[in-house]
Amino acid sequence: MTKIIEKIINKYNNNTSLYIGEDVTISEHMIQCAMLAEKNNSTTNLICSSLLHDYGHFILEDPDEMVNQDKDGMHEKIGYNFLKNHFIESVVGPIKNHVRAKKYLARDKGYYRILSNASKISLKLQGGIMSDTEAKEFEKDKYFEDSIKLRRFDEGAKKIGLKIKSIEDYKDLLVSKLS
Ligand SMILES: [Fe+2]
Repeated sequence: MTKIIEKIINKYNNNTSLYIGEDVTISEHMIQCAMLAEKNNSTTNLICSSLLHDYGHFILEDPDEMVNQDKDGMHEKIGYNFLKNHFIESVVGPIKNHVRAKKYLARDKGYYRILSNASKISLKLQGGIMSDTEAKEFEKDKYFEDSIKLRRFDEGAKKIGLKIKSIEDYKDLLVSKLS
């Protein structure tokens, strides 16, 4: 196993802190997200994006890796900047966009209503709902479709007490998406 995959797997196994404002750990949340992607017959790229999408939270939590980071709304960029050095573009593109996708989807009142309270609060910190101009721009993004799908899995991946896979179950997938 390559060193980087070993490091990533260790992060999932050592994470015990809760996903901000939710009742599942960050690891559980990301594994649930990948399982939802699988359930919806997603491409292996999107399953891998779903599995890694909040990796930035692990980096933010690790004082050895990052000191004095601004915690508000930057986790997708921090995760992306790290992951893009190791994984193919089609995997990391939707990760970079997943907060943008939330801001886009929140334009729909029905979607906004189903957001968890924590997610509504972070939406504010992330600059709030997208404008029409920003939305049109985003629709042209190469990874627009996958980013929207990822965001929907993300919303559903906060179930308490769900029986989930282990990160080791995704080892081969992770290895296959290395750049
Ligand atoms: Fe998430």
